[in-house]
Amino acid sequence: MGGAELIPEQAGRVYDRIGRFQDWQRFYEGPATASLIAHADFEHAQSVYELGCGTGAMAVNLLDQHLAPSATYTGVDVSNKMVQHATRRLARFGNRASVQLVNGYPPLPGNAATFDRFISLYVFGLLTESLAHDLLDQARRLLTSNGRLCLVSLTHPTTRPSRALCAAWNQAWRLSPATVGGCRPIDLIDLLDGWHIEHTDTTVAWAVPSQIVTATPQAG
Ligand SMILES: C[S@@+](CC[C@H](N)C(=O)[O-])C[C@H]1O[C@@H](n2cnc3c(N)ncnc32)[C@H](O)[C@@H]1O
Repeated sequence: MGGAELIPEQAGRVYDRIGRFQDWQRFYEGPATASLIAHADFEHAQSVYELGCGTGAMAVNLLDQHLAPSATYTGVDVSNKMVQHATRRLARFGNRASVQLVNGYPPLPGNAATFDRFISLYVFGLLTESLAHDLLDQARRLLTSNGRLCLVSLTHPTTRPSRALCAAWNQAWRLSPATVGGCRPIDLIDLLDGWHIEHTDTTVAWAVPSQIVTATPQAG
């Protein structure tokens, strides 16, 4: 990591501008999202927290199809436009779902030990290593002792087409990070010292590699 990362204020402005096109990325995010859902046991979750909820697409998917009727969802994002969009989209779930604008730095809103899933999809690839660690500390604070961290990120290439694509992606990110939404490929495992990795795998869709990780906080 290190170089052209957007600070959260810049990320907010970028997603205010491009965020409404985020759902078009389902073509490469779909298999990774499906893998996360297969490994995160959302059926037994009672309260889900999402960092960088974007358009609210994952929230709708979870609330409609995977969470128990009593389970609740809380999303936060640095983009005002994304928060407005997700809030409108989630209105039909009433008080089961809420979305809040944040400044992107710790502390995240929410009481300690009140969420049993902390999810974040395609967000950690935007962050500096230092901010990523600080936000993971927040995830640890928000999660219950048996809670689960559930992450998806753009990751390093595993196939020849994905090597070519990631080389071009990294180049674009270095020249102008906003052109790729501030995201670049990372290895989530490098960030997860002090977490017990339960599951990890990589999907490749349309040459875009995505890493999926579920992990639990290690005691101490
Ligand atoms: C690539 S988009 C992914 C959106 C959504 N999670 C998805 O998978 O479609 C990244 C999102 O993270 C938000 N974001 C970036 N940095 C953030 C931060 N430090 N805290 C909260 N949200 C952040 C952006 O505004 C944007 O909505």
